Amino acid sequence: MTREIITKSAEETIAFGRTLAEVLAPPKLVLLRGDLGAGKTTLVKGIAAAFEAAAEEDVTSPTFTLVHEYRGSKANLFHIDLYRVDTPRELETLGLDDLRDGNSILLIEWGEKFPGLQWDVEIALEREGENARRIKVRG
Ligand SMILES: Nc1ncnc2c1ncn2[C@@H]1O[C@H](COP(=O)(O)OP(=O)(O)OP(=O)(O)O)[C@@H](O)[C@H]1O
Ligand SMILES: [Mg+2]
Repeated sequence: MTREIITKSAEETIAFGRTLAEVLAPPKLVLLRGDLGAGKTTLVKGIAAAFEAAAEEDVTSPTFTLVHEYRGSKANLFHIDLYRVDTPRELETLGLDDLRDGNSILLIEWGEKFPGLQWDVEIALEREGENARRIKVRG
């Protein structure tokens, strides 16, 4: 399954995230791929809304805390940023496996640094100019 869209603003990316509830039905491990500022965290705002797990403005980058958890009625979201995680050993200490259960969705930024991670869905975001982003969902 592949879905592709070009969004022209952050708001459009959030709106697209809101449409992904079915594709991302738990349990899932989701790789969010894309450069710095591509819009990965912005997309998670829409995904969190789709699962009634958090308001858009409450979703912020887990850059320093590494994992943010949003418990919703339809799923528990774990938004993870591995940008500052450098070794498989450090990854191990995050205990991502312990977060996984039938109700969980792990949304992982910079997960491609660790080829050992087995994801169910890959979402790739690419810049197409200042405010345009190409978003591809492969499940
Ligand atoms: N079409 C668009 N979709 C998403 N974000 C956009 C778009 N156009 C502009 N932006 C802006 O791009 C930035 C995306 O930042 P965001 O934190 O979501 O990126 P990121 O991929 O998570 O980066 P990082 O790897 O640093 O965490 C925001 O400032 C957002 O407002
Ligand atoms: Mg981010």
